[in-house]
Amino acid sequence: MEEVVITNFEGVYEPAEDSWLISRHIPKFEGNVLEIGCGTGIISIHLAQRGHQVTAIDLNPKAIQATIFNAKNNNVNIEVLEGDLFNPVKNRKFDIIVSNPPYLPPTDEYSDPELALAVEGGPTGSEFTINLLTQAKKYLNPNGSIYMILSSRMKEFEVDWQRKIVKQEKYFFERLNLFHFF
Ligand SMILES: C[S@@+](CC[C@H](N)C(=O)[O-])C[C@H]1O[C@@H](n2cnc3c(N)ncnc32)[C@H](O)[C@@H]1O
Repeated sequence: MEEVVITNFEGVYEPAEDSWLISRHIPKFEGNVLEIGCGTGIISIHLAQRGHQVTAIDLNPKAIQATIFNAKNNNVNIEVLEGDLFNPVKNRKFDIIVSNPPYLPPTDEYSDPELALAVEGGPTGSEFTINLLTQAKKYLNPNGSIYMILSSRMKEFEVDWQRKIVKQEKYFFERLNLFHFF
């Protein structure tokens, strides 16, 4: 794996265990990719380095600036779009969708609204993920699939996808899973 050099920006989620888990362990695949919630761009840049055509979306304008900066700094081309979930790519289709989503239930830990946007996934932590998975089929080519990080701190949920754990990492306070939905 080529090295990715990331510059952190104030108000943008700093890459952590979840970012590294998906960047390091997402299996090889063919085709173009859409990332929802790109933050600093770390995952999208890894995938662009592998030769994929990548589109990256984030709702936080500072994350858009950070991803544009980091992509340039790592000599890769990424299409970077500001907006909510799939809104910026209406009527477009991708082979793979990736996301390290906000997945925690609300806590008092994050007074900074940009950080709260990055980590809080709704009342049970799962709402953002359910919303993404429910809409995703419209934006995928036939046989398209999704790689996402899920945490043991989220409430369990049912969706209309088969799922498999690609890689699990255990920490004393949570298990992080890289899931494949197909
Ligand atoms: C846990 S961070 C992951 C950032 C980066 N992909 C990484 O792994 O380091 C989640 C990201 O999702 C973005 N986000 C939150 N809600 C969003 C929404 N409705 N649409 C698009 N992006 C959103 C946040 O701004 C944040 O950058």
